Amino acid sequence: MTEDIYRILYCSRNSLSGSIEQQKTEIAKILAKSRANNPARGITGALMFNSGFFAQVLEGPLEQVERTFETIQRDMRHDDISVLQCGNVPQRDFPEWSMAYAKADSGETESLADLNLAELLENQSTAAAEISNLLRSLVVQDDEYTCV
Ligand SMILES: Cc1cc2nc3c(=O)[nH]c(=O)nc-3n(C[C@H](O)[C@H](O)[C@H](O)COP(=O)(O)O)c2cc1C
Repeated sequence: MTEDIYRILYCSRNSLSGSIEQQKTEIAKILAKSRANNPARGITGALMFNSGFFAQVLEGPLEQVERTFETIQRDMRHDDISVLQCGNVPQRDFPEWSMAYAKADSGETESLADLNLAELLENQSTAAAEISNLLRSLVVQDDEYTCV
């Protein structure tokens, strides 16, 4: 039997305070927690962060993804959470990663890193496609952070 994969793509406003270094330390904690929790739940995905916002894909069994997303929504490290896409998908985009980290602050992605949430939310379907592609390309490019 094939596994039903449910996928959520959301973005949110980063409410981390402190210097960029302090924020990166906090991101490392989020990734460590995700990589500890997600495998047992059958969840894979990717997380992107810049000074303005987070974008994350969570994919896996419906119940597990929903439960994890509920916890994430209560997390004070971000707010203004907007679901850009959700539903069943035929396959995972990030089968190898319990939570991949896609750096959004490197050279060629600068303009995308500068995207602001308001602009993204004006056209959710374009934003969803754009962020999905961005996450996939960044995760593939960057193997420093992507091991499970
Ligand atoms: C942007 C963002 C993404 C997160 N992603 C995950 C995730 O994929 N999996 C996870 O378990 N926790 C994630 N967290 C952390 C949760 O909000 C929460 O702190 C954590 O799940 C609590 O786990 P615990 O009950 O094992 O301490 C994320 C938090 C933020 C701010």
